[in-house]
Order: sequence, then structure tokens, then C-alpha cells
Amino acid sequence: MPFLSGLDLSAMFNVEDIRKDFPILYRKVNGKPLVYFDNAATSQTPKQVIDVIVDYYSNYNANIHRGVHTLSQEATDLYEQSRKKIQTHFNAKFLHEIIFTSGTTHSINLVANGFTSLLKKGDEIIVSALEHHSNIVPWQMLCERTGATLKVIPMNLEGELEIEAYNNLLSKNTKLVFVNHVSNALGTVNPIEHIIDEAHKVGAAVLIDGAQSCPHIKPDVQALDADFYVTSAHKVCGPTGVGMLYGKESWLKKLPPYQGGGEMIAEVTFEKTTYADLPHKFEAGTPNICGGIAFGAALDYMNAIGFDTIAAYENELLEYGTAQLLAIEGLKIYGTSKHKTSVISFNLEGIHPYDVGTILDKLGIAVRTGHHCAQPIMDFYKIPGTIRASFSFYNTKAEIDALVEGVKKAKMMLS
Ligand code: ALA
Repeated sequence: MPFLSGLDLSAMFNVEDIRKDFPILYRKVNGKPLVYFDNAATSQTPKQVIDVIVDYYSNYNANIHRGVHTLSQEATDLYEQSRKKIQTHFNAKFLHEIIFTSGTTHSINLVANGFTSLLKKGDEIIVSALEHHSNIVPWQMLCERTGATLKVIPMNLEGELEIEAYNNLLSKNTKLVFVNHVSNALGTVNPIEHIIDEAHKVGAAVLIDGAQSCPHIKPDVQALDADFYVTSAHKVCGPTGVGMLYGKESWLKKLPPYQGGGEMIAEVTFEKTTYADLPHKFEAGTPNICGGIAFGAALDYMNAIGFDTIAAYENELLEYGTAQLLAIEGLKIYGTSKHKTSVISFNLEGIHPYDVGTILDKLGIAVRTGHHCAQPIMDFYKIPGTIRASFSFYNTKAEIDALVEGVKKAKMMLS
């Protein structure tokens, strides 16, 4: 992950002050202080974002883009201001390149559906061995609809993509490449700059799944030259049920609407309907208005801390946690790339991850156990799943110590 060496973190960042913004961090679970290490599944929400949600329902709740009345106009303004914040955050060239969706999965399905009429038998789609099921299944469904073929970039034991193999997979038949920026199961940061550049050389479009990168990295979609970049608000301190699709204007104009309904039309008669311009063409129905507004507030919150600061601090947690956990005999970490976000996936020799997760929960420690919606990665390592501890900027080394003690206790009880 990007890491500013020599950065004086203590001068810029006080984790105890940050933690005061997150009410949930003060609750107990099973009589123990909550240690929340399931941030890759969903991040926690600071009071600044909770306040925006309460304020919206207390003062602005109305449908948007529809009424001349004041409430509707105010809600519309707040929603559109949030779109602008998202555009600025991702450095999209045009405001209408930001489409609100219900989250990463919705964004991916929107694009996959749109390509149905653009692909034919013999065309090839490349995904990677490190994908979440949401970046595998929609493309398999697209292949079934079109006769296109799915190719897979293999991974190595460190949990990195085999880039030489990727280069060899590319051909004039490659029409689309889909990879995540960061693996949800292992935390590997993929070399998406290279992946995008090489795909463009053969004329393929690239979609980057940013669900796991956005909590740690501020992507610049123009500098990356990504054709599509997708993410969810709840990974970046926002609410669930809302996310975004960034698409280059030229691609979004080519893709047909995903869903029909109100909001996405220009004119409707029984003879023929014409569609609204971007971004509304892809935004049928009443959206998650409050969620969209809170998404912008969440980005404001994280930007106020600063992504360089967040990355530097989380890297400290990653290094500390890795060293402490590796000191436990029989513990193996999966995903050992030098380029990682603050995710540690591990197992204890001879012990099922679910059993460890259950004991940790009794100690108030929240981790995710299982295949993490990335079964091909587990098949590659020939394991049923892992225990995944994913750290955020509001976590502490003391919490990592609690995790390490908990894992030792689980090992003792289960061996
Ligand atoms: N994709 C999320 C995770 O990795 C839910 O946990």
C-alpha cells in the first residue's frame, strides 16, 4: 500500500481522538469491549455521517428530481452535491460519469448487462484468480448470454497475480478485463496500472472493482485511465445499500440502460420511450437518497483525515499484527505480497477457521471466517477458508494484542 516513509504520524493522527467519532467502538460484545476487525466486510460509521443521516430524515426527506416544492429541491441539491463530492474524490472528468448504484455488485451487474449486445462468440473476457464472487458470476452469466469465453489470470503462492501470464492471455479477441484493485480475501494490491495499460493496447475495456481499495487508497480514475471503477459506500464509513459506478462518458453512452422505470426516461409513449441523458439513464426508480448524501459525507470525513495518513497508520498496524501473529506456532498467513492493505488472512494448523472465529467472538473480537466470497482462492490454497482480521484507521495495537491473546487461547482450547 502507498506508504510515506518518515511521516511523523503522531503529529498528524491521534487514534484515541478518532475513536471518539465512532460510538459503536464503545459497546461491549459478550461482556467484553468490542474489537472490530471485520472492516473489509463493512466499515464502521462515524457520528459525523450518522448526524447527516439523522439530519436528512429530520429535515429534508423528500423524493428528488420530481417536485417543485422546497423539500424536494433541497433533497435534490444535497444528493447532487454528493455526486459532485464523489466526482472530485475519484477525479472523474465529468459529473455525469458518476452513477449512483446500490453498491459494487449492482455496479458490476449494470456493466455486465450492458455488454450483452456488444459481445459475440469468440470474444474473450479476462478476470483474475483473486476475484470476489461478485466479479466472477456476472461475467460468467455474460459469457452464457453471448458465447464469449472467460479466461483467468492465475495467482502465485504469495497471493499475487501472475502478470506474465496475464500479458500472454491478452489478444485481439480480448474485449473486457475485470480485476479488483485489492483482494478482499488476502489484501493484495494488484498492479492495475499495468493491467489497464496492457488491456488498452489490444483495445479491451477494463473494469476495476474498488470495493476493497477505497478504504485505503484514493484512486484517480483519469490517471489510471480506468474505463469503469466501482465501489460501495459502506466500505468507506458510509451506509450500506449505496455505491457508485464510474464509467468513461464514451462507454456509458454506448451501454444501454440496465433497468427501466421512472427517472431514467426522457419521454414515454406506448409507441416508444426515449431515455434520459447520463447519469439518469442508469438511475431508474427512487434511489437511496439519504445513503447517497451520506456517501459524500463519509468521503468528506475520510478526506479530512487524509488517505496518506490513513495508509501510513494502517501499514503500521499491518506490520505489527503480522509480526505478532506469526510468533504463534502453527499459524500460517495467506497472502504475503509486499503490496498489501491492512488485511491478515490466517489459519491455525489443524483447526477449522470457524471454530477460532466462534471463540474470538466470545471474547468480543469480530473477524470474518470462511471463504470470503472468494472460493477459487481457497481452492488454490486447498483450504476451506481462513480467519480474516482486517484493520481500519480507528483500530489500535492494543486491539491487535487482544486478538493475538484470543488466537492463543483458541489454539489452546481447540488443540
Ligand atoms: N466482500 C465483503 C468481504 O470481503 C463482504 O467481507
